[in-house]
Amino acid sequence: MLVPGYRDNPTEPWDPDAPADPAEAEDFLRRCYTENPRLGPVEPRLAIVRAQIAATGTYVHTPDELTHGARMAWRNASRCIGRLYWRSLLVLDRRRARTADEIYSLLVQHLLTAGNGQIRPVISVFAPAVPGQPYARVWNEQLIRYAGYRAEDGATVGDPRLREFTTAMSAFGWRGKGEAFDVLPLVIETPADGIRLYELPERAIREVPITHPEHQWFTELGLRWHAVPAISNMRLTVGGVHYPLAPFNGWYLGTEIGARNLADTDRYDLLPVIAARLGLDTTRESSLWRDRALLELNLAVLHSFEQAGVKMSDHHTESRRFLTHLDNETKAGRRVPADWTWIVPPMSGGITPVFHRYYDELDLRPAFYLDADAATLASEGMRRCPHRN
Ligand code: ARG
Repeated sequence: MLVPGYRDNPTEPWDPDAPADPAEAEDFLRRCYTENPRLGPVEPRLAIVRAQIAATGTYVHTPDELTHGARMAWRNASRCIGRLYWRSLLVLDRRRARTADEIYSLLVQHLLTAGNGQIRPVISVFAPAVPGQPYARVWNEQLIRYAGYRAEDGATVGDPRLREFTTAMSAFGWRGKGEAFDVLPLVIETPADGIRLYELPERAIREVPITHPEHQWFTELGLRWHAVPAISNMRLTVGGVHYPLAPFNGWYLGTEIGARNLADTDRYDLLPVIAARLGLDTTRESSLWRDRALLELNLAVLHSFEQAGVKMSDHHTESRRFLTHLDNETKAGRRVPADWTWIVPPMSGGITPVFHRYYDELDLRPAFYLDADAATLASEGMRRCPHRN
């Protein structure tokens, strides 16, 4: 079975049945051992891995290799502006978990470990895909996401991005409250237990109500967002071994919420609502009502997280940190793959330093990839075409 790469995803299709590529394994191991001299010489390890691949079609990473491999994958994530702290990634080795219940409780633990104030970057790495065998996965694109419901009048209550997914959850018997910020259930699919839905406990879902430092009426909009962005449907690939279930989180950059999730016209689309409250002239583009509403919304998001004691960064600070990261990496003799269209923040681009330069567009591994079937499951909550697992 070939799993095609998603849209502009640079990877070739992934073949879950193909044996681990010995050349990729060697390349990874050499880098890993060079970057971590305390691991000792790589040659004996290479001999073992070659033999393991020849005998079984794959090999097993040591905990040190897994940890460094996951950190390298973050370091290579060309769309991420937050990579300065790649070394601090906490890697939880969950490779032994098999049942849906076990996986669920480890996902809850992941969110608790990530924290609800001083958020730390964490990845939970579950079992790798073994060639020829089905593997466990989570359908959701993030561990915490809000449902979207289509109202009678065609408008959406909640997050329109998750509308189809929400409909699919109803087909599984799930019932949300029908409100704007209902956390969706987790869909865990395992060879052992099939497809199962789980509700996250409240203690694992830290949320921040959105208020504005000056405009009291902001509270009346009833906005909120979750504290932890935890991507749960990207495949981690390290040295030719693939981990289809390896959810990871960082902390939020304010603009992800204020300039995208709450602002995009195909998401919560709140700029017209905020502009009206601000009394702006929305009949003319040149009044810049969109920009003024966007600014106040982003100010509110940063203010609210700060008030709540939940870690978040702003686009100016994070842009500067990214340039520091580029500098550090260059000094270490490494190239930094980066995608300008993702690195430049979605507001005030030109007044951040990341705007004024170009970047290397490379596909380096270890890496995280979003496969097309994973993208379909996350957006539609079902399979479009039959799949082996
Ligand atoms: N942009 C996504 C969201 O708004 C989250 C992506 C990951 N972000 C992060 N800061 N680690 O939910």
